[in-house]
Amino acid sequence: MRVIIAHDPANVAQTCAELISEQLQLKPCSVLGLATGSTPIALYKQLVSRYQAGNMSFLGVKSFNLDEYVGLSGTHPQSYRYFMQQHLFDHVDIRAKQTEVPLGQVEPSKECIRYEKAIVQAGGIDLQILGLGANGHIGFNEPSSSLVSKTRVKTLTPATMAANARFFDKNEYQPELALTMGIGTIMRARQVVLLATGTHKAKAVQAMIEGPVSAQDPASILQFHERATVVLDADSAGLLKQYEYYQWVEEVRKRTNLNEFVLGQSAS
Ligand code: GLP
Repeated sequence: MRVIIAHDPANVAQTCAELISEQLQLKPCSVLGLATGSTPIALYKQLVSRYQAGNMSFLGVKSFNLDEYVGLSGTHPQSYRYFMQQHLFDHVDIRAKQTEVPLGQVEPSKECIRYEKAIVQAGGIDLQILGLGANGHIGFNEPSSSLVSKTRVKTLTPATMAANARFFDKNEYQPELALTMGIGTIMRARQVVLLATGTHKAKAVQAMIEGPVSAQDPASILQFHERATVVLDADSAGLLKQYEYYQWVEEVRKRTNLNEFVLGQSAS
C-alpha cells in the first residue's frame, strides 16, 4: 500500500486530482470508479477547474459510481446520482450516457446483476476512487461484508445512518438500504485511490493500513490490493504508527525519481 500524507485536505484533493490526471494522460478513455461523501467534493472541484482551464478532458471517460440509496430516484437531492451531477458531471465534458450510478428505483437484485455486468463489459475499472467510513466501510460495504462480495444490497448500520443524517432534512425519509459495489468488485479495479481527511477518520485509517485484514474492517482488504494508494491529511494520519516511515518513503521516491515499476507501490 502506498501511503501519501499530504499537509491538509486541499493537498489531498490536489494529489488525487494529479493521480487521475496521470491516469487520463496514459489512457484518455479510462474507466473511472467514483465515490460520494463530503471528502471527494474538493477533489471534484479540482477536476472541474482543471477541465475549465483546458488541462483535462473526460470525453472518452466512462464512470461507475460505488453506490446509491435504494428507493431514491436520480433527481432526489440526496441521491448519489444527483450529487455526482451537482459536483462533477454537469461541469465537465463527460458524456451523460457514459456515467453510471446504480439505479435506486429499479428492482434491486436485477440492478445489481446489470451493474456488475456493465463494469465487466466496459473492460473493468482502471482507477477507483474511494472514501472511508468512520467504521471502515468502503462504498456501503459495512463491517461483516464478504471480502469477495459483488454489487448487492446492504443494510446500513445505525452509525452510518447517523453519520449521513446531516444530508437529510429532519423529517425527511432516510433510506436504510443501499446498492453498493461489492468488496470483490472494488478489488478488481486495476488501481485504487482512497482519500481520507480529518481526525474523525484517524482510527479507521490506522486500522485500514496497520490493523489486521478482516471483514469487520472492510477497508483493510486494500492491504491485499496490488496497486492501492491512500492519500491522507495530517489529521487523518495522526494515529499511524509508521507515520514517519511513510513520509520517508515518499521523500526517497521523489529524490531517487524512481518510477513505480522500480519502486513498487508498496511502502514496505
Ligand atoms: C458514505 C459513502 C461512502 C463514503 C462515506 C464517507 O457512506 N457511501 O462511499 O466513503 O460516506 O463519507 P465522508 O467523506 O462524508 O466522510
